[in-house]
Amino acid sequence: MAGGHRNEGRTRVAVALESAESQAQTESIRLDRVSKFYRAGGRSVVALQDIDLTIPRGSFVTIVGHSGSGKTTLLKIIAGLIAPSSGTAYVNGEHVTGPTSHCGMVFQDFSLFPWRTVLDNIAYPLEIRGHSRRAARDAALAVVRRLGLEDAATRLPKALSGGMKQRVALGRALVYEPAILLLDEPFSALDADTRDALRAELVDLYLDTKKTVVLVTHSVEEACLLGQQIIVFTAERNTIKSTHRVQSDYPRDPRSEELRVMQELIRAELGREPERG
Ligand SMILES: Nc1ncnc2c1ncn2[C@@H]1O[C@H](COP(=O)(O)OP(=O)(O)OP(=O)(O)O)[C@@H](O)[C@H]1O
Ligand SMILES: [Mg+2]
Repeated sequence: MAGGHRNEGRTRVAVALESAESQAQTESIRLDRVSKFYRAGGRSVVALQDIDLTIPRGSFVTIVGHSGSGKTTLLKIIAGLIAPSSGTAYVNGEHVTGPTSHCGMVFQDFSLFPWRTVLDNIAYPLEIRGHSRRAARDAALAVVRRLGLEDAATRLPKALSGGMKQRVALGRALVYEPAILLLDEPFSALDADTRDALRAELVDLYLDTKKTVVLVTHSVEEACLLGQQIIVFTAERNTIKSTHRVQSDYPRDPRSEELRVMQELIRAELGREPERG
Protein backbone atom coordinates (compact mmCIF):
# COMPACT_ATOMS: atom_id res chain seq x y z
CA MET A 1 0.00 0.00 0.00
CA ALA A 2 1.20 3.49 -0.87
CA GLY A 3 0.41 4.80 2.63
CA GLY A 4 2.37 1.94 4.15
CA HIS A 5 5.38 2.78 2.02
CA ARG A 6 5.16 6.39 3.06
CA ASN A 7 5.09 5.45 6.74
CA GLU A 8 7.98 3.08 6.26
CA GLY A 9 9.88 5.92 4.56
CA ARG A 10 9.11 8.22 7.48
CA THR A 11 10.28 5.58 9.96
CA ARG A 12 13.53 5.17 8.03
CA VAL A 13 14.09 8.95 8.02
CA ALA A 14 13.30 9.10 11.74
CA VAL A 15 15.73 6.28 12.48
CA ALA A 16 18.42 7.96 10.36
CA LEU A 17 17.86 11.28 12.16
CA GLU A 18 17.93 9.58 15.54
CA SER A 19 21.19 7.81 14.80
CA ALA A 20 22.72 11.04 13.44
CA GLU A 21 21.63 12.72 16.68
CA SER A 22 23.03 10.00 18.95
CA GLN A 23 26.25 10.06 16.92
CA ALA A 24 26.49 13.83 17.53
CA GLN A 25 25.99 13.17 21.25
CA THR A 26 28.80 10.64 21.52
CA GLU A 27 31.27 12.25 19.14
CA SER A 28 33.27 15.24 20.21
CA ILE A 29 35.18 16.01 17.02
CA ARG A 30 34.62 14.86 13.45
CA LEU A 31 36.64 15.73 10.38
CA ASP A 32 35.26 14.83 6.94
CA ARG A 33 37.82 14.78 4.13
CA VAL A 34 39.67 17.79 5.56
CA SER A 35 42.59 19.17 3.54
CA LYS A 36 44.61 22.34 3.97
CA PHE A 37 46.93 24.00 1.47
CA TYR A 38 48.95 27.15 2.10
CA ARG A 39 50.35 29.49 -0.52
CA ALA A 40 53.98 30.20 0.26
CA GLY A 41 56.61 31.72 -2.04
CA GLY A 42 54.28 31.51 -5.03
CA ARG A 43 53.58 27.80 -4.64
CA SER A 44 51.06 25.64 -2.84
CA VAL A 45 52.22 23.81 0.30
CA VAL A 46 50.27 20.75 1.43
CA ALA A 47 49.72 21.00 5.18
CA LEU A 48 46.97 18.36 5.57
CA GLN A 49 45.45 15.87 3.16
CA ASP A 50 42.15 13.99 3.26
CA ILE A 51 41.73 13.67 7.00
CA ASP A 52 38.76 11.54 8.09
CA LEU A 53 38.66 11.36 11.85
CA THR A 54 36.12 10.87 14.63
CA ILE A 55 37.09 11.48 18.24
CA PRO A 56 34.56 10.21 20.82
CA ARG A 57 33.45 12.48 23.64
CA GLY A 58 35.57 12.14 26.78
CA SER A 59 38.47 10.32 25.13
CA PHE A 60 42.18 11.10 25.37
CA VAL A 61 43.78 11.09 21.92
CA THR A 62 47.43 11.69 21.13
CA ILE A 63 48.85 12.64 17.74
CA VAL A 64 52.47 11.91 16.92
CA GLY A 65 54.44 12.57 13.75
CA HIS A 66 57.56 14.19 12.34
CA SER A 67 57.95 17.94 11.99
CA GLY A 68 55.83 19.43 9.19
CA SER A 69 53.36 16.52 9.04
CA GLY A 70 50.38 18.82 9.78
CA LYS A 71 49.74 18.28 13.51
CA THR A 72 49.44 21.96 14.48
CA THR A 73 47.36 22.68 11.37
CA LEU A 74 44.91 19.95 12.44
CA LEU A 75 44.50 21.41 15.95
CA LYS A 76 44.00 24.93 14.55
CA ILE A 77 41.27 23.70 12.21
CA ILE A 78 39.48 21.94 15.10
CA ALA A 79 39.81 25.12 17.21
CA GLY A 80 38.36 27.20 14.34
CA LEU A 81 41.49 29.35 14.11
CA ILE A 82 42.01 28.50 10.43
CA ALA A 83 39.56 27.20 7.83
CA PRO A 84 40.21 24.00 5.87
CA SER A 85 40.79 24.41 2.11
CA SER A 86 38.28 21.59 1.58
CA GLY A 87 36.26 19.26 3.77
CA THR A 88 34.39 20.01 6.99
CA ALA A 89 35.18 20.00 10.71
CA TYR A 90 32.48 19.43 13.34
CA VAL A 91 32.83 20.01 17.08
CA ASN A 92 30.06 18.84 19.43
CA GLY A 93 27.93 18.29 16.33
CA GLU A 94 28.36 21.88 15.10
CA HIS A 95 30.06 22.83 11.84
CA VAL A 96 33.23 24.75 12.82
CA THR A 97 33.24 28.17 11.15
CA GLY A 98 35.37 30.12 13.66
CA PRO A 99 36.69 29.99 17.24
CA THR A 100 34.17 28.72 19.82
CA SER A 101 34.07 28.12 23.56
CA HIS A 102 33.95 24.35 22.93
CA CYS A 103 37.76 24.21 22.62
CA GLY A 104 40.60 25.44 24.80
CA MET A 105 43.96 25.41 23.03
CA VAL A 106 47.45 25.47 24.49
CA PHE A 107 49.98 26.59 21.87
CA GLN A 108 53.43 25.19 21.18
CA ASP A 109 55.11 28.42 22.45
CA PHE A 110 52.77 29.16 25.43
CA SER A 111 51.75 32.57 23.88
CA LEU A 112 51.36 34.36 27.23
CA PHE A 113 50.92 38.14 27.39
CA PRO A 114 54.23 39.38 28.88
CA TRP A 115 52.62 42.50 30.40
CA ARG A 116 49.87 40.61 32.25
CA THR A 117 50.31 38.84 35.58
CA VAL A 118 49.63 35.11 35.92
CA LEU A 119 46.13 35.81 37.26
CA ASP A 120 45.36 38.34 34.51
CA ASN A 121 46.67 36.04 31.77
CA ILE A 122 44.30 33.32 32.99
CA ALA A 123 41.39 35.78 33.36
CA TYR A 124 41.86 37.16 29.83
CA PRO A 125 39.63 34.68 27.89
CA LEU A 126 36.71 35.52 30.20
CA GLU A 127 37.29 39.27 29.86
CA ILE A 128 37.10 39.06 26.07
CA ARG A 129 33.91 37.01 26.42
CA GLY A 130 32.32 39.95 28.25
CA HIS A 131 32.54 38.71 31.87
CA SER A 132 33.04 41.45 34.46
CA ARG A 133 36.63 41.93 35.62
CA ARG A 134 35.63 40.73 39.07
CA ALA A 135 33.94 37.53 37.79
CA ALA A 136 36.89 36.84 35.47
CA ARG A 137 39.39 37.22 38.33
CA ASP A 138 37.34 35.02 40.68
CA ALA A 139 37.20 32.24 38.08
CA ALA A 140 40.89 32.71 37.30
CA LEU A 141 41.71 32.45 41.00
CA ALA A 142 39.97 29.07 41.20
CA VAL A 143 42.07 27.85 38.25
CA VAL A 144 45.25 29.29 39.82
CA ARG A 145 44.50 27.21 42.94
CA ARG A 146 43.75 24.08 40.94
CA LEU A 147 47.10 24.40 39.13
CA GLY A 148 49.11 25.22 42.26
CA LEU A 149 50.08 28.72 41.07
CA GLU A 150 48.98 30.69 44.17
CA ASP A 151 52.47 31.94 44.99
CA ALA A 152 53.01 33.14 41.42
CA ALA A 153 49.59 34.73 40.84
CA THR A 154 50.86 38.32 40.79
CA ARG A 155 54.08 37.64 38.84
CA LEU A 156 54.69 38.50 35.20
CA PRO A 157 55.56 35.64 32.79
CA LYS A 158 59.25 36.67 32.65
CA ALA A 159 59.55 35.72 36.33
CA LEU A 160 58.20 32.17 35.81
CA SER A 161 59.92 28.86 35.18
CA GLY A 162 59.06 26.89 32.02
CA GLY A 163 56.78 24.54 33.98
CA MET A 164 54.92 27.48 35.53
CA LYS A 165 54.47 29.14 32.13
CA GLN A 166 53.04 25.89 30.86
CA ARG A 167 50.63 25.76 33.79
CA VAL A 168 49.50 29.33 33.08
CA ALA A 169 48.92 28.46 29.40
CA LEU A 170 46.87 25.45 30.53
CA GLY A 171 44.98 27.63 33.01
CA ARG A 172 44.08 30.08 30.28
CA ALA A 173 42.64 27.21 28.22
CA LEU A 174 40.71 25.82 31.22
CA VAL A 175 39.20 28.98 32.66
CA TYR A 176 36.08 29.05 30.48
CA GLU A 177 35.53 25.31 31.04
CA PRO A 178 35.73 24.06 27.45
CA ALA A 179 34.58 20.49 26.75
CA ILE A 180 37.69 19.92 24.60
CA LEU A 181 41.35 20.59 25.35
CA LEU A 182 43.72 20.88 22.40
CA LEU A 183 47.36 20.72 23.50
CA ASP A 184 50.18 21.38 21.04
CA GLU A 185 53.42 19.81 22.34
CA PRO A 186 52.70 21.16 25.83
CA PHE A 187 55.65 19.53 27.56
CA SER A 188 58.38 19.67 24.93
CA ALA A 189 60.22 22.68 26.39
CA LEU A 190 60.37 21.31 29.95
CA ASP A 191 63.01 19.42 31.91
CA ALA A 192 62.30 15.73 32.53
CA ASP A 193 61.08 16.07 36.16
CA THR A 194 58.71 18.97 35.44
CA ARG A 195 57.44 17.19 32.34
CA ASP A 196 56.69 14.00 34.27
CA ALA A 197 54.88 15.96 36.99
CA LEU A 198 52.77 17.88 34.46
CA ARG A 199 51.92 14.72 32.52
CA ALA A 200 50.60 13.19 35.75
CA GLU A 201 48.63 16.37 36.54
CA LEU A 202 47.08 16.32 33.08
CA VAL A 203 45.97 12.71 33.55
CA ASP A 204 44.41 13.67 36.93
CA LEU A 205 42.64 16.60 35.31
CA TYR A 206 41.34 14.34 32.55
CA LEU A 207 40.09 11.73 35.01
CA ASP A 208 38.41 14.44 37.13
CA THR A 209 36.72 16.34 34.33
CA LYS A 210 36.28 13.76 31.55
CA LYS A 211 37.05 16.40 28.95
CA THR A 212 38.01 15.31 25.47
CA VAL A 213 41.79 15.79 25.22
CA VAL A 214 43.77 15.93 21.97
CA LEU A 215 47.50 16.19 22.60
CA VAL A 216 50.11 16.62 19.88
CA THR A 217 53.64 15.45 20.58
CA HIS A 218 56.92 14.52 18.92
CA SER A 219 57.53 11.95 21.62
CA VAL A 220 56.40 8.39 20.88
CA GLU A 221 56.86 7.60 24.59
CA GLU A 222 54.49 10.44 25.58
CA ALA A 223 51.93 9.51 22.91
CA CYS A 224 51.78 5.93 24.28
CA LEU A 225 51.89 6.92 27.95
CA LEU A 226 48.93 9.33 27.66
CA GLY A 227 46.75 8.35 24.70
CA GLN A 228 43.86 5.89 24.64
CA GLN A 229 43.96 6.32 20.89
CA ILE A 230 47.24 7.21 19.17
CA ILE A 231 47.15 8.75 15.71
CA VAL A 232 50.37 8.56 13.71
CA PHE A 233 50.85 11.25 11.05
CA THR A 234 53.01 10.80 8.00
CA ALA A 235 55.15 13.72 6.82
CA GLU A 236 55.39 12.09 3.40
CA ARG A 237 51.72 12.77 2.60
CA ASN A 238 50.58 14.95 5.54
CA THR A 239 47.81 12.58 6.48
CA ILE A 240 46.97 9.84 8.99
CA LYS A 241 49.27 6.89 8.58
CA SER A 242 47.80 4.63 11.28
CA THR A 243 45.81 4.64 14.51
CA HIS A 244 46.45 2.48 17.57
CA ARG A 245 44.63 1.80 20.81
CA VAL A 246 46.18 1.49 24.27
CA GLN A 247 44.02 -0.41 26.77
CA SER A 248 45.90 0.09 30.10
CA ASP A 249 44.23 2.23 32.76
CA TYR A 250 45.82 5.38 34.20
CA PRO A 251 48.23 5.94 35.80
CA ARG A 252 50.25 3.84 33.38
CA ASP A 253 53.52 2.13 33.95
CA PRO A 254 55.86 3.38 31.18
CA ARG A 255 57.73 0.06 31.37
CA SER A 256 54.66 -2.13 30.84
CA GLU A 257 54.72 -4.71 28.07
CA GLU A 258 51.78 -3.08 26.25
CA LEU A 259 53.47 0.34 26.10
CA ARG A 260 56.86 -1.12 25.17
CA VAL A 261 55.41 -3.06 22.23
CA MET A 262 53.32 -0.06 21.08
CA GLN A 263 56.32 2.28 21.21
CA GLU A 264 58.41 -0.12 19.16
CA LEU A 265 55.67 -0.45 16.56
CA ILE A 266 55.18 3.30 16.17
CA ARG A 267 58.94 4.04 16.19
CA ALA A 268 59.34 1.50 13.40
CA GLU A 269 56.53 3.18 11.40
CA LEU A 270 58.06 6.63 11.83
CA GLY A 271 61.61 5.36 11.41
CA ARG A 272 60.84 4.39 7.85
CA GLU A 273 60.21 8.09 7.09
CA PRO A 274 62.99 10.63 6.70
CA GLU A 275 62.86 13.45 9.36
CA ARG A 276 62.09 16.86 7.84
CA GLY A 277 62.57 20.39 9.18
N1 LIG B 1 51.11 29.85 7.62
C1 LIG B 1 51.73 28.97 6.84
N2 LIG B 1 52.13 29.32 5.59
C2 LIG B 1 52.74 28.42 4.77
N3 LIG B 1 53.01 27.14 5.12
C3 LIG B 1 52.66 26.74 6.35
C4 LIG B 1 52.00 27.63 7.28
N4 LIG B 1 51.76 26.95 8.42
C5 LIG B 1 52.24 25.69 8.22
N5 LIG B 1 52.77 25.57 6.99
C6 LIG B 1 53.34 24.35 6.39
O1 LIG B 1 52.38 23.30 6.51
C7 LIG B 1 53.01 22.07 6.86
C8 LIG B 1 52.42 21.55 8.15
O2 LIG B 1 52.74 22.45 9.20
P1 LIG B 1 52.36 22.19 10.72
O3 LIG B 1 52.82 23.37 11.50
O4 LIG B 1 50.93 21.81 10.82
O5 LIG B 1 53.26 20.90 11.05
P2 LIG B 1 53.56 20.20 12.46
O6 LIG B 1 53.32 18.76 12.26
O7 LIG B 1 52.83 20.90 13.53
O8 LIG B 1 55.13 20.46 12.61
P3 LIG B 1 56.00 20.61 13.98
O9 LIG B 1 56.10 19.24 14.55
O10 LIG B 1 57.33 21.13 13.50
O11 LIG B 1 55.31 21.58 14.87
C9 LIG B 1 54.50 22.38 6.92
O12 LIG B 1 55.07 22.06 5.67
C10 LIG B 1 54.56 23.86 7.18
O13 LIG B 1 55.74 24.42 6.67
MG1 LIG C 1 53.42 21.94 15.25
